[in-house]
Amino acid sequence: MTSPTSESRGGERMNAPPLVPPLQCQGIKTKFVSEISRLARAQEFEGWIEPFCGSCVAAFNVQPKRALLADSNIHIIRLYQDIQCGSLTPGLAKAFLMEEGEKLRSIGEAHYCAVRDRFNSQPTSLDFLFLNRSCFNGVMRFNRQGKFHRGTAASND
Ligand SMILES: C[S@@+](CC[C@H](N)C(=O)[O-])C[C@H]1O[C@@H](n2cnc3c(N)ncnc32)[C@H](O)[C@@H]1O
Repeated sequence: MTSPTSESRGGERMNAPPLVPPLQCQGIKTKFVSEISRLARAQEFEGWIEPFCGSCVAAFNVQPKRALLADSNIHIIRLYQDIQCGSLTPGLAKAFLMEEGEKLRSIGEAHYCAVRDRFNSQPTSLDFLFLNRSCFNGVMRFNRQGKFHRGTAASND
């Protein structure tokens, strides 16, 4: 049997600020990760199972050796699978977000809507990241057809 500290590497981050995931989700548990990590360190466990992982902020901060993370949002799953297989890297994401962010600043809401239309006809993790970061209040919304239909701050001003 392994000790809690060898199962959960989150203990090494006890006093560090929380790791911030690439995604923002409604109900994100960032404020609770130090308490979640403390509780996890007090347990012996074989693996971390999170059926509604959302941003994955809890798992990223607890840092279990093995984790089963699930969510019904296919875009969240695709994003983390792309990161896992190496097709989406921090450098790629940063360059894309800087370029699209610049267009958003110069063109405004019309650019946000163009990216949203592009995403809704052919979803990609990069467009998903952009919409996640530029939608109004950072709260993603999908309609019954599964289409992203949140506006941006500019359309709500
Ligand atoms: C409140 S968020 C989770 C937030 C997460 N704990 C965090 O800190 O980011 C709820 C998540 O549950 C997912 N979800 C909702 N209903 C679900 C279901 N029936 N099965 C799996 N995931 C579901 C949503 O897609 C969403 O990502």
